[in-house]
Amino acid sequence: MDKFLLAPSIIASDFTLLADEIAACESAGADWLHVDVMDGHFVPTITVGPLFVEACKRATKLPLDVHLMISDPDQYVEVFAKAGANNITVHVETCPNLLQTIEKISSLGCKAGVTLNPLTPASALDAALPLVDLVLVMSVNPGYSGQAFMPEMIGKVEEVRNKLNALRSKAWLEVDGGITVETLPLMHKAGANVFVAGNAAFKHPQGVAAGVRALRESVV
Ligand code: DX5
Ligand code: ZN
Repeated sequence: MDKFLLAPSIIASDFTLLADEIAACESAGADWLHVDVMDGHFVPTITVGPLFVEACKRATKLPLDVHLMISDPDQYVEVFAKAGANNITVHVETCPNLLQTIEKISSLGCKAGVTLNPLTPASALDAALPLVDLVLVMSVNPGYSGQAFMPEMIGKVEEVRNKLNALRSKAWLEVDGGITVETLPLMHKAGANVFVAGNAAFKHPQGVAAGVRALRESVV
């Protein structure tokens, strides 16, 4: 079985228990901690910002995988890098000078990621693919945890996987939105190797550790 990474999405956790929730992810074998930054402008919701990233940093040694759903990421990548982000992923829809943004993220010492909304075609990534460390395919419209997986995104993952293979790229191919024990194996088969999970991890009836383990065991 190909190795894959799990990145629980911390906005689905109970913030009153933040350190405990993170510790439980860590001991259950999560690989990254995914932090969804939303600005109420690019997406309807407002979530967390750099202060929260800093708090997570103090609570864990796991790499922080910061997903910026904000209108002007160029203005903020530095502050998120300083707050402790290891990976910074930006939406192509928000970056008029995408290649410059990627270079800036890399120059700050972070892994650079690009992502796209479900309706944005994979070709929007073409110029960026040779430069990035991570590609994120959204399998819901960004904005909320707990939405239903869009099966049409399986084909998009296959398409991006083929593009990365053609470039002999080792970039991570991450998926985000509606990932469960049912949908993870489908996206894994399509070529994804990093899985974000909000509800499936944190809202598992037996707690987040059980959620993370169930996702890990979903690929046989
Ligand atoms: C959606 C966010 C996701 C979300 C995932 O806009 O980017 O990371 O928190 O939550 P689930 O896994 O519950 O869809
Ligand atoms: Zn996300």
